[in-house]
Amino acid sequence: MRRLLPETPDVTDLTSLTGLAEAYAYPEPTERPDPSGPVRPWLRANMVASLDGASRLDGLSDGLSSEGDKRIFGVLRALADVVLAGAQTVRAEGYRPARARAEFAQARAGRGQQPAAAIAVVTRSLDLDLDLPLFTEPLVPTLVITCAGAPADALRATRKVADVVIAGEERVDLAAAVAALAERGWTRLLTEGGPRLLGQLAADGLLDELCLTLAPLVASGDAPRITNGPAGLTQRMDLVSLLEEKGFLFARYARSVNSPT
Ligand SMILES: NC(=O)c1ccc[n+]([C@@H]2O[C@H](COP(=O)([O-])OP(=O)(O)OC[C@H]3O[C@@H](n4cnc5c(N)ncnc54)[C@H](OP(=O)(O)O)[C@@H]3O)[C@@H](O)[C@H]2O)c1
Repeated sequence: MRRLLPETPDVTDLTSLTGLAEAYAYPEPTERPDPSGPVRPWLRANMVASLDGASRLDGLSDGLSSEGDKRIFGVLRALADVVLAGAQTVRAEGYRPARARAEFAQARAGRGQQPAAAIAVVTRSLDLDLDLPLFTEPLVPTLVITCAGAPADALRATRKVADVVIAGEERVDLAAAVAALAERGWTRLLTEGGPRLLGQLAADGLLDELCLTLAPLVASGDAPRITNGPAGLTQRMDLVSLLEEKGFLFARYARSVNSPT
């Protein structure tokens, strides 16, 4: 993997996982907007798209991914306190709990993080298979973020296997959900989509950073793009870095400091 941007001489070893983790470190509180205020969460998204904007191939994102994309995926999880995922992604991709990895153990402990990121599933229906390892064997308890209008029976069953957060009435209020995560001291937030969840997070002005893998494929078809939802805020982003491996581009964009909203 090589760095295309920024063009400054780079001492980071991008061939090692720890080097990649350095390259993708969350901004320190002092580097975030309003450094004098309380530490606010930083929400990063990690997504992959084809050249023509498809967010999935044959119903899954795997066909768009690469070995380098998977490496970055793992590194971003290793840096995060919590991973926010839409329930359809959890169902379609068969989500498993994040695992603790020896390469990152010391750095996580040093930052006061749990051994692995918690997975937080956003759902109203609570239509989740509670017998899956995500609920039966997580290293860190899985969170389910739902709303007051969720079905009562399913809510009772979910509470037995997961930590439940109620945010909002008829649908999950995502700003309230992010605030609830911050109340737990989790400020390094990562979302892995899917497109409907990311579309709302972006429209609500909650997205601070987008890590976007551009796969060198023209997918054709009618797959949604990486945000799929209501129109909302149009967010200007700044390109922070651009890496390349085997024709795949790995871009990192952050909320523009000149026009933050
Ligand atoms: N290209 C990529 O990087 C990427 C990343 C992730 C996923 N994907 C692909 O994207 C597809 C899944 O994405 P998707 O956009 O269809 O769905 P999604 O965003 O993963 O999940 C949508 C579901 O999340 C829940 N949800 C979202 N916002 C909510 C809110 N405000 N309140 C309550 N519940 C809310 C609802 O769950 P309930 O229905 O349970 O109420 C909704 O049906 C899969 O094909 C996956 O492979 C691609």
